[in-house]
Amino acid sequence: MRVVENVAEMQADVPPGDRAVVMTMGALHAGHAELMTRAREIVGPTGEVAVSIFVNPTQFAPGEDYQRYPRTWEVDLGICRERGVDIVFSPTAEDLYSGGMDITIDPGPLGTVLEGAVRPGHFRGVLTVVAKLMNIMRPTSALFGEKDYQQLALIRNMVDTLDFPLTVVGVPTVRESDGLAMSSRNTYLSEEERRTAAAIPAAISAATQAAASGASAGDVIAAAEEVLAAQEGVETDYVAITDPDFGPAPSEGPARLLIAAKIGPPRLLDNVAIVLAPR
Ligand code: PAF
Repeated sequence: MRVVENVAEMQADVPPGDRAVVMTMGALHAGHAELMTRAREIVGPTGEVAVSIFVNPTQFAPGEDYQRYPRTWEVDLGICRERGVDIVFSPTAEDLYSGGMDITIDPGPLGTVLEGAVRPGHFRGVLTVVAKLMNIMRPTSALFGEKDYQQLALIRNMVDTLDFPLTVVGVPTVRESDGLAMSSRNTYLSEEERRTAAAIPAAISAATQAAASGASAGDVIAAAEEVLAAQEGVETDYVAITDPDFGPAPSEGPARLLIAAKIGPPRLLDNVAIVLAPR
């Protein structure tokens, strides 16, 4: 496994064939490992799997957790090695942003709702770094977790709209044994908060059951909200339903339920595919 820390060196490294890229901010966990496994399945034994590890400062607002975001370099390299990764790219912020931030990717209207409303500027930072990493690493495919569903939708929009020559692959969320979606930020939770956080997968499951028994979008949302409200220590940010591509909530058919809630300091996100019954 090669470790490349320099932008020019990575850019000069033209893949001989297919290259699947997994972009991360490090603090790798089983969810990232799953993305690497899927990446290998996509490119096969002769293709390359590349992982970027870069805690991107431009997607954190002042006062957010950029400084204390977990950095676990040696463990991360171990996970990459174990999953047969060929290249790890980990540039410095000075090198990656040597051209400044005068030119950025505007995420459009979808970047201003839900997570975008709570974290103004976040998706501009995400799309800009993802575009830069795509240009530098030149993947034929790039894999992202469905856990950050709005991020995935925005990356797909960017790649489609700006004609990036690669395929974006969404990979289902990997969960802890009690159903909590894997996230690097779960490490911020105290033991008690970690128990409280089980309310989120419980709300997801209540919503899924409500949809399966024919409830309307409003009642599905209410079912999830009720579970969250019943658990002390959960501060619900939003429970929302959209169509699978982030259009307005459909009255029936495939839809996506999204949850954001604060438990202690961290905001945790989750989402699930649901099908709304005809009315
Ligand atoms: O999902 C993440 O870890 C980050 O937002 C990403 C896509 C690596 C961009 O910094």
